[in-house]
Amino acid sequence: MNGAISYVWRDPITDEEMVDLVLSHGGNAEPGWWPKVSEHSLGWVAARDGEGVLVGFVNVAWDGADHAFLIDTKTRGTHQRRGVGTALVRRAVDHARAAGCEWLHVDFEPRLRGFYFDACGFRPTDAGLIHLPSADEGRR
Ligand SMILES: CC(C)(COP(=O)(O)OP(=O)(O)OC[C@H]1O[C@@H](n2cnc3c(N)ncnc32)[C@H](O)[C@@H]1OP(=O)(O)O)[C@@H](O)C(=O)NCCC(=O)NCCS
Repeated sequence: MNGAISYVWRDPITDEEMVDLVLSHGGNAEPGWWPKVSEHSLGWVAARDGEGVLVGFVNVAWDGADHAFLIDTKTRGTHQRRGVGTALVRRAVDHARAAGCEWLHVDFEPRLRGFYFDACGFRPTDAGLIHLPSADEGRR
């Protein structure tokens, strides 16, 4: 199965393809999201099957220098648990390195520790997060 899948850096993806991919894994698809986000991306990896159907995606955002951020990893619902996600991330790592980045960050839900730590090779680190819409305005 995996042998028939191609992985291409910065392969053009239409908004319709992205919406279809997100719906395929039960996500909340937002039309117009990808054209907006892609303008700020260092690059992304698109996985396509032998017929050109988008079966996986991962985006790499960055600070323009040393730090890159892996975000929005997605595998089509019908193609999960076949190594597509791991292959997407491996290529994203290679391209971030080739672009001169030193660090690749990621955050995720606890249920995906096995995917990011064991399958993809990230190591645990301290990190922090603020959900800005619910942050306390009165503290400023
Ligand atoms: C997370 C996701 C991208 C993984 O893609 P995938 O192509 O299925 O991943 P792989 O087949 O390369 O998985 C490799 C290993 O990671 C772990 N893993 C993968 N998906 C997992 C999941 N949903 N829960 C727990 N462990 C998981 C498993 O150990 C797996 O090996 P195994 O199949 O031999 O048990 C996919 O489940 C997905 O698109 N989920 C919906 C969107 C999402 O939540 N994205 C994450 C954003 S941070």
